[in-house]
Amino acid sequence: EIYDQPNNIHHVFRGRISEINRSIEFPDKVELLLDPNIESIRIVACGTSFYSGLVSKYIIEQLTDLPVLMDLASEYRYFGTKDDKSLVIGITQSGETADTLAALRKARNSGCKTLVVTNVIGSTATRISDAYILTQSGPEIGVAATKTFTSQILVLFLIALKLGLLKRKIGADDLYNYIQDLKKLPKKVRQVLEQSEDILQIAHQLKNAKSVFFIGRGINYPISLEGALKLKEISYIHAEGFAAGELKHGPFALLTKITPVVAIITNDSTYDKMIANIGEVKARGPQVIAVAEENDTEIEKHADFILRIPAKSNLLSCIPIIVTLQLLAYHVANLNECSIDKPRNLAKSVTVE
Ligand code: AGP
Repeated sequence: EIYDQPNNIHHVFRGRISEINRSIEFPDKVELLLDPNIESIRIVACGTSFYSGLVSKYIIEQLTDLPVLMDLASEYRYFGTKDDKSLVIGITQSGETADTLAALRKARNSGCKTLVVTNVIGSTATRISDAYILTQSGPEIGVAATKTFTSQILVLFLIALKLGLLKRKIGADDLYNYIQDLKKLPKKVRQVLEQSEDILQIAHQLKNAKSVFFIGRGINYPISLEGALKLKEISYIHAEGFAAGELKHGPFALLTKITPVVAIITNDSTYDKMIANIGEVKARGPQVIAVAEENDTEIEKHADFILRIPAKSNLLSCIPIIVTLQLLAYHVANLNECSIDKPRNLAKSVTVE
C-alpha cells in the first residue's frame, strides 16, 4: 500500500482538475458547500485521519486565509460547542469510525453543513453528511493507514485550492503553478520509494531503540506526529512527535543519549530554527536522523544520518516526507519481525466507542 501511492495521487486528481479551464471541479453537492462566505472550517477526525486534517489546516489557512479549527472526534462529540458558522469536514478512511460519525451527527444537529472525505463509497459517513468526496485510493487492508493518509491530504489540498479561488486569495496563474507541483508529485514519491535500501540502513539504527522522537516545524509538525504514530503502531517502539519549538517546554527531560531524534528540515522559513533545534538536541547526546532535501549540504554538518527527499520544498513536500517515514517504520517493524499489516491490539476500523 505504501508503494501504491504514486498511482493513488493520479486517482485523487482524476476528474477533479481541469488544466484547460484552470479550475477544480467537484460534484454539485460538494460545490454547494464550498461557499466563499463561510467563516471557518472545523475538522473532526481520529488517529491518522486527524493528523491529515492537521496537515491540511496549514494548507487551507495558507491558501484561503480561513481559520481551521481542529477537533478530535472523540472529544468534539461530547464537548464541541454550538457553532453553525463553520463548514464541518469529517475525515475518515473507513467512513465507519464511531466517534467520527457521532461528531458529524452532532455538527449536523447544531445546524452546521457537513462534508465527509472518505475512502469507502456507501459508508455510513457518506449517508449522514450533506456531501462527500472519495479519496479513490482502493481498499486499504493494512491496519496502519498509509496511502489513504496521503490521499486525504491531497483531497483537502484540492478543497483549499477551490476555496482559495472562490475567495480570490489565489488566482488562475497560482492555480496553474500548484497544478504543476501536483503533477510532479508521483515522480517525487517514486524517487523516495527507490531509496528504500538507504532507509533500511537507517532502520538498523532505530530497531533497538526504546524511544524515538520526531520533530518538525510548521506543516512538518503534524507530519512528525504521523511519523511517530506509524513507528509506534507497527514496530511497538515508543515514539512521540513534537513541534520542534516545544522540546524545551518539557520533552527535553526525556531526551537521553539513547533516544534517536528524527528531525524533518525543509528549505523554507523554518530552516534556521530547525538547525538551532537540532543543535539543542545534539548538545544532549542523541543521534539525529535528518529528513532533508537532496540539495541541502549544510545539514551534513549537523545531523548524524540523512534521509533525502527531492527538492525543492513547497506545500506538497510533506507527501514525500511522510512516505519516507512510512518506509522507515516499515523497515524497523520488519527487522523486529513484527506483524506489520495486523499490529497487536488494533482494529482497522473502530466502530465501537
Ligand atoms: C492509523 O494508522 C490507524 N489506522 C488509525 O489511527 C485510524 O486512522 C483511525 O482509527 C481513524 O480511522 P478512520 O480514518 O477509518 O476514521
